[in-house]
Amino acid sequence: MARANGNGRLANAHHDGGSYEGRLIVPASGFTPAPPVPRPNIFPLEWITVTEPLAALYEKAKRQSWNPSDLPWHALDPAQFTPEQRLGIMYWYATLAVFDGSGPAVFAAAMIHAYEAQAEDPIRKCFFTVARDEVNHEECCQRAIERVMPGGPLRFEARTAFERAALNNIQWLYHNGGRYWRGYTKSLDKYPLSVLFTSFLLGEVAASTLFYGMSHRTTIPVFKEVFTKVGQDESRHLAICLKMLENDWPGLVQEQKDLITKQLRAGFVFLSMILWEPPKQFWDLPDYFIPNHRVLIDAARDAGLGVLTYDEQAANWRLAIARVRKIVEDWGIKFPAIPELDLEGVDVGHITADDIIPVF
Ligand SMILES: [Fe+2]
Ligand SMILES: [Fe+2]
Repeated sequence: MARANGNGRLANAHHDGGSYEGRLIVPASGFTPAPPVPRPNIFPLEWITVTEPLAALYEKAKRQSWNPSDLPWHALDPAQFTPEQRLGIMYWYATLAVFDGSGPAVFAAAMIHAYEAQAEDPIRKCFFTVARDEVNHEECCQRAIERVMPGGPLRFEARTAFERAALNNIQWLYHNGGRYWRGYTKSLDKYPLSVLFTSFLLGEVAASTLFYGMSHRTTIPVFKEVFTKVGQDESRHLAICLKMLENDWPGLVQEQKDLITKQLRAGFVFLSMILWEPPKQFWDLPDYFIPNHRVLIDAARDAGLGVLTYDEQAANWRLAIARVRKIVEDWGIKFPAIPELDLEGVDVGHITADDIIPVF
């Protein structure tokens, strides 16, 4: 290959090897060191692997990748449902989208943060796969809604009281979903990665439990596939979180442990909206929201979506929380009180929008 050298003459790379060195400029006083790269920064670019199991999880993520477009959406016939059931299904997916719709941006931001913090290569790549998965999960919400309620969740014409109630509840859900983003982006710089991981951990345990339960319960074939695929992704996310935490927890100071205790409570408050029913903290909702929410979820349940009953959801939540509690307590981190589920623990005070780290 020919190129112009500094003097404008053409140098030919086909010269014998010895001439390469002859063409180099080596200052008599030595090379000038490049300025250090300011931190935080995504450079230097290196591919260091410390935790082999994380590299294996990245490989697994690539092998398990799937395409939401390939699922049998055509077999989902809106005519098989009553108008209320169609609305119920749309409403449940709109609620899920408060969580899964935030997934891509939340994990993409976490990925950039992992680069800036110069986390090892498989951590950066694992965050990338989680963001990738969350785009698929969001696409499932989108496709399900498009199929049963074109224009949903926000741009359909609400003509009946049932439709108006659904639309209004969804608007309130999205108002709340939009309240934590600033807090989250600030928290990326404020908290060490391990604190973030703990918030993610509760979300991943909750999500894998939720989708596992629904995949067994639903009577609608395409949703069975959705829940199975999404559940598989979520349990891989859980494995990723656990591996990351194993590395980080031994180095935590007490202040960070206390922060994690509070984060676990924040995770419960936030995730209860999709997993059960939300406590009266953080969520800014009108009085009629929960009664109407129950009616809409009943319609989704009657349609065969696979939504567990209130008591089954509470039992599931208790199970998921017990798993996380066991893990964090092994590391000397106290668990918060969850009086809503009769679980004793540390009182961490009121949870506000600033405490919420979005997850799923
Ligand atoms: Fe997830
Ligand atoms: Fe997800």
